Amino acid sequence: MSAPATDLAAGASSVQSGRQILVTSALPYANGQIHIGHLVEYIQTDIWVRALRMHGHEVYYVGADDTHGTPVMLRAEKEGLTPQQLIARVWQEHKRDFDSFGVSFDNYYSTDSDENRVLSESVYLALKEAGFIETRDIEQAYDPVKNMFLPDRFIKGECPKCGAKDQYGDSCEVCGSTYAPTDLKNPYSVVSGATPIRKTSTHYFFRLSDPRCETFLRSWVAGLAQPEATNKMREWLGDAGESKLADWDISRDAPYFGFEIPGAPGKYFYVWLDAPVGYYASFKNLCEQRGLNFDDWVKPGSKTEQYHFIGKDILYFHTLFWPAMLEFSGHRTPTNVFAHGFLTVDGAKMSKSRGTFITAESYVSTGLNPEWLRYYFAAKLNSTMEDLDLNLEDFQARVNSDLVGKYINIASRAAGFLIKRFEGRVQDSAMNHPLIEQMRAAIPQIAAHYEAREYSRALRQTMELADAVNAYVDTAKPWEQAKDAANAVALHETCSVSLEAFRLLSLALKPVLPQLAEGVEQFLAIAPLTWADAGRALSSQQPINAYKHLMTRVDPKQIEALLAANRDSLQATDAPAATANAANAADANKKSKGSKEAKKPAADETPETISIDDFAKIDLRVALIVDCNIVEGSDKLLQLTLDVGEEKTRNVFSGIRSAYKPEDLKGKLTVMVANLAPRKMKFGLSEGMVLAASSADEKAEPGLYILEPHSGAKPGMRVR
Ligand code: 2FM
Ligand code: ZN
Repeated sequence: MSAPATDLAAGASSVQSGRQILVTSALPYANGQIHIGHLVEYIQTDIWVRALRMHGHEVYYVGADDTHGTPVMLRAEKEGLTPQQLIARVWQEHKRDFDSFGVSFDNYYSTDSDENRVLSESVYLALKEAGFIETRDIEQAYDPVKNMFLPDRFIKGECPKCGAKDQYGDSCEVCGSTYAPTDLKNPYSVVSGATPIRKTSTHYFFRLSDPRCETFLRSWVAGLAQPEATNKMREWLGDAGESKLADWDISRDAPYFGFEIPGAPGKYFYVWLDAPVGYYASFKNLCEQRGLNFDDWVKPGSKTEQYHFIGKDILYFHTLFWPAMLEFSGHRTPTNVFAHGFLTVDGAKMSKSRGTFITAESYVSTGLNPEWLRYYFAAKLNSTMEDLDLNLEDFQARVNSDLVGKYINIASRAAGFLIKRFEGRVQDSAMNHPLIEQMRAAIPQIAAHYEAREYSRALRQTMELADAVNAYVDTAKPWEQAKDAANAVALHETCSVSLEAFRLLSLALKPVLPQLAEGVEQFLAIAPLTWADAGRALSSQQPINAYKHLMTRVDPKQIEALLAANRDSLQATDAPAATANAANAADANKKSKGSKEAKKPAADETPETISIDDFAKIDLRVALIVDCNIVEGSDKLLQLTLDVGEEKTRNVFSGIRSAYKPEDLKGKLTVMVANLAPRKMKFGLSEGMVLAASSADEKAEPGLYILEPHSGAKPGMRVR
């Protein structure tokens, strides 16, 4: 079926193969879902890994769930599960999400594994042996009801500056001031509500302050690839002899979900001790599966390379503790650590109320193509720690114009003629066309951009080539050539150049769009593309297969549905005029309590003035209530079936059950907001909102009154 493309020149690939490379991404905690913020890192790493594999290097990419710690323990308890049951479920979910996004782990494992226990213990014992471990008594907050020490984030209280309630122990979300947990007024344990007491306990420390650590880290830092990382390290290390490094508390007291420290009953390794060791544990497990020699990769003097991709927030752990742990426990140290910035969506922090806290699962189940996101992130990623923004409009525009408009269309335009007129066979002489030569020469540069983690450059260069191909096609005009049989040779050349160009563009995009590349390989009947294929070409010996559409455009409705699927609740701030009837208010307000994104304005607050253009954005329509039912499991909602003059009726949940019985409303006309983004609710999708009046002070004057137009109005009429 598939044949290698013709070899044009021996040894076309200039890059040396034969490197042995171990790559990791940070291990996600096992108490939450994978979201698009996480995906920046996994996609970034995966693209790098795939680009290196395409050189023929021996590359292993490993990951694992980060399973230990207090949050996992408490979450499991809350769900009525054992920690093991919780982490087993979350592992399945994480694995599913990584598979969906084409993240090509060679092994995805867990830090709660035998390999990790053995390795963590041996690292610890080696550090102890070398004099890097000491114990010290420290005083910490303790929950006397739950009988456990409380990490800072499990203590809340009143802000010492402004008195705001329910603030965390480090900073106030209301006035912005920062302070120590001990400064909180009326502190309470988030776990039991009890007032924390101070209690002393013995802790184990890794002596990072040991001069050997400083000496080692000063020399190790010289190899770091990112100038921002080097600067941070210099800041942490201080001037020579300044001894700025503080010892690191690596133990936690029972109850704790983790590994008990050998020789220290009731003391557990702090999650951050066994998490990075989890990289090695996952790799060790892979070595067992594949018959590799683990020691060859992890012992000092190893010829192999080891890279860690991480977020900039965990640089400290990966450039201080982890290399020092490795160095002084008899291991090799990382070749490099690559940190990336944070993700914002439409210029702001991801937010549940705006629906921009987008989970991987919702993205996939809304029907969006994961390779669109891979492409968009790649188009924005470079080798620095700069933050990157997912602008949803730009996302649609780029995918539609670059991927579909510029790239995919090249194949769809050329394939038809080639199949119909030339038995699907290219013209061999066209394979040396100057445009093709220019593209071939660019491929090694593009491959180098990937290796340098300059993906945005790689894609910019690729799209410039796609522009050149489109310009070539527009000049040759195959659709004109096809009108006259005398132009058959010219038409054959145009289609052949186009398809070979398409093959080369697919090669350039393969690390980013692996699934699409597979479709292209099948379509062109060629073997899996590697960088060496820049030096090959399509051949008349091997006809192409019929063209099947390879990628669709992003539909703006899909983005709306995605935001709706991730919107936590209907926020009063989103629709102040409709507080009474907020379609989803019943469940929403419960959920949003305490969330800083969900501040409900006072009911009598006067809205700011808006322009007529602002008002025109709201599509108000007359709606006929064709059906109305109670909602099982909700004492606030009614389910309305509304005819707004469209082909299909709309389903709307409305919080008006206290005021109406279903039979009061059936057959009545009302007014709805028809262009409100749909919202996913526990009971189904709500596709709009009906309007109702209520008093500013609902307590003093209860009552809800839905709007009803005068008789004569018809379903679908616009209200303005
Ligand atoms: O910050 C986090 O999400 C951690 N779970 C990352 C751990 S990375 C490694 F060290 F295991
Ligand atoms: Zn405050």
